[in-house]
Amino acid sequence: MRIGILGTGAMTAALGRRLSAIGHDVVIGSRDPVRAETLAREIGASSGTDLLHAAQSDVVIVAVRDTAALEVVGELAGELAGRVVLDLGNPIDPPHFESRYGAGPSLAERMAEAAPGAIVVKAFNTVYAEHLAGDGSPQVLVAADDGPAKTLVTELVVAIGCEPLDVGALRVSRHLEQLAGFEVDLVEGGYARATSLRVIDLPG
Ligand SMILES: NC(=O)c1ccc[n+]([C@@H]2O[C@H](COP(=O)([O-])OP(=O)(O)OC[C@H]3O[C@@H](n4cnc5c(N)ncnc54)[C@H](OP(=O)(O)O)[C@@H]3O)[C@@H](O)[C@H]2O)c1
Repeated sequence: MRIGILGTGAMTAALGRRLSAIGHDVVIGSRDPVRAETLAREIGASSGTDLLHAAQSDVVIVAVRDTAALEVVGELAGELAGRVVLDLGNPIDPPHFESRYGAGPSLAERMAEAAPGAIVVKAFNTVYAEHLAGDGSPQVLVAADDGPAKTLVTELVVAIGCEPLDVGALRVSRHLEQLAGFEVDLVEGGYARATSLRVIDLPG
């Protein structure tokens, strides 16, 4: 499968390495294609290019800085229509790391509005890049409205050695983004950077 990852940060490096290692055609997109190509070589991805060409993929992972995500997705909206778009962004700011959107629509929901026709799935936002970069199996909470897209992302999560958990519709991403803020707050308070929350479903 061709998987485009937008941005050249820590999440792209960690996810791109895992996805490339299991044989996917991973294409990294950047405002600077040279930077994308350098990272692609470093992590064993197929290639690096600009944002537009990376967006021409079966799955497009938006891993640009959260403050730029809506603008980037809006500019690529025509290209993203009909594609599975995986949002892992956290719209949280210091000092308290609460969502800048408050109780309103999440970044993921805003992304779906910015790119009508894109099939948005929220996943990986509660996992630190440091955790993904290691060889652990973090739990990955997955929220989406579209069943087949959620299944596709869930299968990718399993394939790269992580543990998926279906947490419901895209609206649940409001909670997921606040949860990530809580994790960052914990880390700022002294917990290790790979700290992640885990849902334990206790029957009975
Ligand atoms: N780091 C983590 O542990 C972690 C964990 C969970 C979720 N997240 C989320 O994952 C996303 C990526 O985080 P990250 O830590 O990997 O990287 P990041 O430092 O947030 O930046 C990622 C990339 O965004 C691009 N970028 C920055 N400003 C931009 C702009 N104005 N327009 C277009 N692109 C821009 C840059 O790529 P180019 O300069 O190459 O274009 C940069 O490498 C964020 O939304 C973050 O909230 C991060």
